[in-house]
Formats: sequence, structure tokens, C-alpha cells
Amino acid sequence: MMEPQASLRVLELYSGIGGMHYALKESCIAAEVVAAVDINTVANEVYKHNFPNTYLCAKTIEGMALDDFNKLEFDMILMSPPCQPFTRIGSQKDVLDPRTKSFLYILEILPRLSKTPKYILLENVKGFETSVASDKLIQTLESCRYTYQAFLLSPTLLGVPNSRLRYFLLAKLQPDTFCFQTSHQILKHFPDHDDADLRSRDGSSFNQMLSTDSNKKEQNKSEYCAENGKSQVNLLYKLETSEHQKQKQIQDNNLSIQLIQDFLEEGLQNPSLYFIPPKSLLRYALILDIVGQTCRRSVCFTKGYGHYVEGTGSVLKTASDVELSEVFQSFQALSEDEKLNQLSKLKLRYFTPREIANLHGFPSEFSFPEKTSLRQRYRLLGNSLNIHVVAKLIRLMVE
Ligand SMILES: C[S@@+](CC[C@H](N)C(=O)[O-])C[C@H]1O[C@@H](n2cnc3c(N)ncnc32)[C@H](O)[C@@H]1O
Ligand SMILES: *[C@@H]1O[C@H](CO)[C@@H](O)[C@H](O)[C@H]1NC(C)=O
Ligand SMILES: *[C@@H]1O[C@H](CO)[C@@H](O)[C@H](O)[C@H]1NC(C)=O
Repeated sequence: MMEPQASLRVLELYSGIGGMHYALKESCIAAEVVAAVDINTVANEVYKHNFPNTYLCAKTIEGMALDDFNKLEFDMILMSPPCQPFTRIGSQKDVLDPRTKSFLYILEILPRLSKTPKYILLENVKGFETSVASDKLIQTLESCRYTYQAFLLSPTLLGVPNSRLRYFLLAKLQPDTFCFQTSHQILKHFPDHDDADLRSRDGSSFNQMLSTDSNKKEQNKSEYCAENGKSQVNLLYKLETSEHQKQKQIQDNNLSIQLIQDFLEEGLQNPSLYFIPPKSLLRYALILDIVGQTCRRSVCFTKGYGHYVEGTGSVLKTASDVELSEVFQSFQALSEDEKLNQLSKLKLRYFTPREIANLHGFPSEFSFPEKTSLRQRYRLLGNSLNIHVVAKLIRLMVE
């Protein structure tokens, strides 16, 4: 059991819309965010809207002096530095990218703080682990005497039907140790450990999920979902490999993952706002990642979602009685008008920002200020993180 202790003082760097802050709340650790730092004005408006009582520092991190940091007397740093310098499809300029400057500054500051924080959690994209920036981080942690553990984790591990593989690093100041065995390997799963409280909590939610009646009934439906089973003979009507398709089927049939429908908004106010425009439909029909309400998967939502179509996230088939295979059969031979006619049967729409927030684990009290545009909402959510994954990591780090 955790001993009752004084509230930990947490510094939230690159705070965005406060994903880390929500994760900290969800972790149930006695803690408070003593300062959040971000330069993005739109993100900051959303942060203030949801956390009006948190001190939000709207300036660059490298603009903060050592003394500013010292005054905050924090015990924990939660941070998600910009990931563009490390993305596999990006420029991979790594430490030469100006967007890495603030992170290198943090590494410089860390050994000079009057009180070294006891805990550090970092989130970034897959690809960070092979960067020079990561090497520098590890060097700094070792010289400051931290124990640490790296992870590559996706929310699917917690039964969430959304892939979002991210790099995480937990660091704890020695002589304290983690409640699990650390390793120099990057862990691809949450570690086993001794905490009975945590185990029963996760175990029971999984078992509950597995044993609900609705889930049993869905078993047949989910065969329909990915057009697995019966229509498998029609395969590869879309531009995807059979390997890819098999992977989708496995996910859709995995009953330890929740249904997409559990994350959807009921009675959507203005659905036409989200329907995919005909032009995009025609142009991208064969590469859209389409999921139905009874699927158990979706691909990672990125900041261009709702605007750029290619590779930015799944779209939702709202016509539950129409199968993909019906629409895509001999699709190539059709005229444009016929194609559009066929595609419109699927009633495809984008997931709404609220639905993406649900998949990311944002609590229902999270909201956007009214003036935040749709495009800004998608962009901010695409930059954010899965709260359940981080909450679990925070608990692992502190216990
Ligand atoms: C990957 S996002 C973090 C998102 C955040 N974890 C969330 O839940 O929304 C990176 C954030 O870092 C901010 N940022 C980038 N460079 C910065 C700098 N030099 N100083 C302060 N903030 C910066 C960006 O504005 C952006 O909001
Ligand atoms: C089903 O999902 C769970 C949680 O992500 C995972 O641990 C398990 O390996 C998956 N099962 C299959 C058959 O893929
Ligand atoms: C699935 O469908 C089959 C045949 O249609 C039916 O016999 C079976 O009871 C269904 N299973 C569930 C769990 O609903």
C-alpha cells in the first residue's frame, strides 16, 4: 500500500491540452501540477478552460531561467517534447532540428537544479529511442543517478480499440527503485509487479469486459465487422496486403478489446459536419481505413485528421447494414458517378473530436472552448496522448 504522503509537486512541460494533467488525476497519486508550460496559444486556451486553477506559463521552455525552475520546487516532471524531429516519416533532423532545442535545454538544467526531481516521465513517438536526443537523455539520467525504464506501448494493451504506439521513459531518482524489474530492453508490455491493488484493478476490468453479455452477443457481429469470415473470399478489393487484412481481423475478433461503438457520441448534433466530402471520397476511397461500430480497432489519429485524409486516422462507416465488400466489388470498373453512388451507401464520416478524446481516455468533463475550430480540435487531439496508458505508467513509477 502507498503510505499517505504530502502531495507531490508536478511540473508539466509541453502541456498542450493537458493530457498529462488528466493522466496524473486518473493515477490517483497525491499530486498537484504546480506549473504547466507551453507556447501554443490555442492549446493554452483549452488548457485554461479545463484547468482554470493551474498556473500556466505561456512561454518557451528555453526562455525559463534556472531560477524559475528552482522556485517551483517540483518532485516530478511530466513531458511530451515535440516529436516531429524523430518521426519515421519526418525529416529526422533529431538534435539539429530547432524544435529539439528546448529539450536539450531541459537536459542542461536538470543537473543544475537545487533539488533534483524524484520522478520523470517522458512521452514521444516511436523512433525517439534511436535518436541522439535519446542518447543524451540517458546520459543525463545516468549522471544524475536515476534508475530508468523505456517502453513502447499502445492503448490496445489496455483494451482500447485504438493503436497509438508511443515511446515512454520512466525515471526514478536513486536510491529508490521501481516496483518491477528494470531492463535495458525497451518493454513492449506493462511489467508484472507485486502491487495487489493495481493488479486487481486491471484484472477485474478485463474480466468484466470479457464476461459481459453484450460482449458475447457481439461475438457474431464482430465477424460481420471486418467482413471477416464469410466475405473473406472477396479479399483485397482495397489497396491493402493480405497480411494487413489478417491483422485487422485478429484485432476485430479480440474480445479483450472494447467495441468502437462504446466510444461514439450518441445523437450527434450536426452529423453533416463530419461526413467526408465527395471529392475526398473518390480520391482516397481505396486507402481510407474504414471501421464499423462493431469493430475493435482504429488507427492512430494524427494532427491532420479531418483535413488530410491519407494516413491520419480511421473513418467511421455509419451504415451498419452495408458491407464494404458490396461497395468495393468491381469498384475499379465503375464510372466516377457510380463510384460515388456506391461509396455514399457506406455513410462514411470522420470521428468527432469528442470521440477521439474518448478513445484517448479524456474524461467527460474535458471540453473545448466554443471558439476552438474543428480543425484546431483535431490538431490538438492528434498531438495529445492516451491518458489511461500514462496514468498506469505514473502509478508504476511512483509505487
Ligand atoms: C506533442 S505536444 C504535447 C501535447 C500534450 N502532452 C497534450 O496532451 O496535449 C508538444 C507541445 O509542445 C509545445 N512546445 C513545443 N516547443 C515548445 C517550447 N520550446 N516551449 C514550450 N512549449 C513548446 C507545443 O506547443 C505543443 O503543444
Ligand atoms: C488481444 O488483446 C490483448 C490486449 O491488447 C492482447 O494482450 C492479446 O495478446 C490479444 N490477443 C490476440 C489473440 O491477439
Ligand atoms: C452466433 O451465431 C450462431 C449462428 O447464427 C448462433 O447459434 C450463436 O448462438 C451466436 N452466438 C452468440 C454468442 O450470440
